[in-house]
Amino acid sequence: MFIALEGGDGAGKSTQIPLLKAWLEARGLKVTVCREPGSTQLGESIREILLFSKNEGISRMSRMSELLLFMAARAQLVAEIIRPALERGEVVLADRFLLSSVVYQGWGGELDVEQIRQIGQIATGGVLPDLNIVLDVPLSVAKARRMDEPDRLESEADAFHERVRVGFLAEAALAPEKCVVISGEQSVEAIFDQIKKAVERELSLRDSEAF
Ligand code: TYD
Repeated sequence: MFIALEGGDGAGKSTQIPLLKAWLEARGLKVTVCREPGSTQLGESIREILLFSKNEGISRMSRMSELLLFMAARAQLVAEIIRPALERGEVVLADRFLLSSVVYQGWGGELDVEQIRQIGQIATGGVLPDLNIVLDVPLSVAKARRMDEPDRLESEADAFHERVRVGFLAEAALAPEKCVVISGEQSVEAIFDQIKKAVERELSLRDSEAF
């Protein structure tokens, strides 16, 4: 099973992922965790370029370059980590996946969303999450939670991040069988309870399909 944790910056994914991993392991499942962009050597190098490169004047990174770099990191992640883990029968927990590109570069960056899906299909070879868990928080809350210096994408204007939030909600509404939206404004425990329910549902669906 392949699960992606998604949502705007500061929505609380990094708190929930270790909780979910431990819970799945306690049920006897093997779990592989990865983050995007990154987790592979190539992906971490691309991450440096994407998040921390100087972005000024004529050398400003174009949206399309940005998209293709995210996709290159993703292609490597699928080849090196995700596909092998799924083939071993493990659960893969990804801190972001293709939905982030659809929403950040598409809804936020105003690239064509359909094109992003097509490129995503090619980059991943069709290895896509069974379940996207979208943690949703208003921008003001997300900003108040930010502790360190904003990276290149976090430094985008508020209007970009507003479009990202709307995009996550719209995309989730388009594919309700693959997406669940959970308010990130609740306590850590309340959010985790809802994540567990969504994952339980997915697990039992698979059990019933196995027979
Ligand atoms: P990260 O530090 O992992 O942020 P977070 O902890 O919020 O997940 O940085 C990833 C940043 O890259 C984040 O701002 C979202 C953005 N991003 C995209 O714009 N497109 C993508 O396809 C992915 C995977 C991430």
